[in-house]
Order: sequence, then structure tokens, then C-alpha cells
Amino acid sequence: MASGSKVLIQTGALFANPFQIGDLAVFDDETLWRVCLSERANIPFEILVLSLRNAPDMLRWRVQRRLTRQQRLHMRALQQHPCTDEDIEHAQRVLLDRLFWELTYWKTPELYEELTQGEHLHPSIFPQFAQDIRGKDVLDIGAGSGRATFECLRYGASRVYAVEPSPGLRRILERKLSSMAGAARIVSCSGYFEDLPLEDESVDLALSCSAFTSFPGQGGEAGLAELKRVTRPGGKIILIWPRIEDRAWLEEHKFVYVSLSNQREMYVRFRSYEAALECARRFYARNHEVARYVLTRQSAEVPFSILGMHPPCEYCWLQV
Ligand SMILES: C[S@@+](CC[C@H](N)C(=O)[O-])C[C@H]1O[C@@H](n2cnc3c(N)ncnc32)[C@H](O)[C@@H]1O
Repeated sequence: MASGSKVLIQTGALFANPFQIGDLAVFDDETLWRVCLSERANIPFEILVLSLRNAPDMLRWRVQRRLTRQQRLHMRALQQHPCTDEDIEHAQRVLLDRLFWELTYWKTPELYEELTQGEHLHPSIFPQFAQDIRGKDVLDIGAGSGRATFECLRYGASRVYAVEPSPGLRRILERKLSSMAGAARIVSCSGYFEDLPLEDESVDLALSCSAFTSFPGQGGEAGLAELKRVTRPGGKIILIWPRIEDRAWLEEHKFVYVSLSNQREMYVRFRSYEAALECARRFYARNHEVARYVLTRQSAEVPFSILGMHPPCEYCWLQV
């Protein structure tokens, strides 16, 4: 297991969570505020205060200085309440599970890369909108380590803005870029759905792969408004591999859904057997079928049906 000496916390979530409260220090101030304190984060204040009781002083201070006066008073009152080590541990487990994916993107981007580099999109997705990419300015928001960004380059985009908040994932994207023809056509930078670092009407296509959801912190109404703002009239917004749960929300917002058929079952093809096992144990820890499948077949390839995931064969689009 890639968890070092840390205790793995098993909760209702599918993953095994190796993170500890001090790991929150990996976030920059803006992200710390977004994921812990903003309204969009939706973290109960009591959980946050309890979690921070035995956190490193520096981390506590970084959170405290972003509090409003009222929150400071509330925090002081909560700190007067007696609590046990179990109360603190429980609060931390709740908080760290809520932040598992953010911590993964920021703290262990290489392992996240192991997970996603084997998740190949349906081969017909990009050909479907090739004409929306060729010679066009494209935004890939929540670009991660570049899964969709590099496809846009391959399909002849004249410029791709790869916008991604996690510095670790951006570094992986930039590392791949350094050995790639056409690298000058990619602009990699930090940014969020709700506050895109682009001018009005600056791209022909705004796309997002496995990142935009209807949740306010991961897109939502504010994120969609931003995608519309930066897209030129007549351009498109395309969301690749949206969450099944968001289909009604997206259709209400006039997105057209496209589901591509599969002749054969789709597989995640990990880089190696060892990588498959490591990802199974971290990201699918509670689905014992996954590790069993990898171990019994000594296989680096796992069907989406075993992972219990909908395969990446859908996208939806909206004309701006
Ligand atoms: C599941 S990953 C997908 C990454 C990449 N698009 C891919 O297909 O591999 C979700 C990505 O969205 C980014 N993200 C999370 N919240 C975001 C926000 N509010 N604005 C922009 N990106 C965000 C994460 O840092 C992460 O890289």
C-alpha cells in the first residue's frame, strides 16, 4: 500500500483515506479557504473547528486568519466545549473524507495520474466534435494532467488554455508538454470554474473532462455562467464524461446528451499490474472485487463493470 506509515481510515467511502489533518497545509491560502470555509465547501463549521483542535499551529493560524469576526467568536465558543480524542478523530475523518479528492490532486498527483492514465475515453468522443477543435481556441478547465488538453492539441486546436488549480497536476501536464510537438499552442495556468482567468468571448470551445458537476464548488450555476462568458457567440461548451447524477440538471440547462455505444466492454488499462493493485487499494478499497480481480488474474486491465463505474462514453454539449 502506498500509504507509508499513515493509518488508513476506512469509512463509508469507496477509497482508503491515508490523509491526516496536517496534510491540509498542502493547499494554498485561496484553496484552503475554498475547500474548508467557503459557502460552496459546505463543511459544517463545528466539524472544521473540532478537526483543527490538534492540528499544527501554522495550519490553525492560516484558517483562523480567514475567518470573519463572527466565525472567530463562534470558534472561540466551540473551543470551550469539552471533547474527547474520539470526537476529534471522528471530525477529522469526516473532513478528510470530504477533501479526499482535493488532497489527492494536491498531495499525491502522481498517484492520481496512475489512476487516470489508464482510463481511456471512448475512441469516438473526440472525432465527434473534431470540427469544433481544428484551428480553434479551446479552454480545458479542470484540465488535471492533460487528458483532454492533449487530445485537443492532436485534433489541431490553434490554442488550448489548460486551466487547473492543482500545482502538482499542472506540473505533470507541463512535464508531458516539454517533450511534445506543438507545446507552444498550450497555455497552462491556475484557475477555477467560478473565476476563469480568461477574457470575455476568448475561446470557440470551452470543454471540461470529468471535472464539471452541478455542485457549486465544482462548476454549478456560477461555473456554467463563466463558461458562457468566455465562449464566443456560436461556440460550444462540451462536458465530457459528466456524472450520471447531473444528467437532469444539464438537460434543464439545455445541454444535448450524447451516449456512444460500445461493441465491447470498456476497460481501465493501468500502466502495470503493480499500478493496478496500488490504485485498487487506494481508490477502490471498499470494492473488494477490484483487488481480487487484479490479484487473481495478475492483470493490469480492469473492466468498468468490476469497478462499478459508468464508462467514459458520454458527453453533452451546449451551443452558446
Ligand atoms: C477528476 S479530475 C479530471 C482531470 C482531467 N480533466 C482529466 O480528465 O483527467 C477533476 C479536476 O478538476 C479540478 N477541479 C476541482 N475543482 C475545481 C474548480 N472549482 N475549478 C476548476 N477545476 C477544479 C481538479 O483539480 C481536478 O484536476
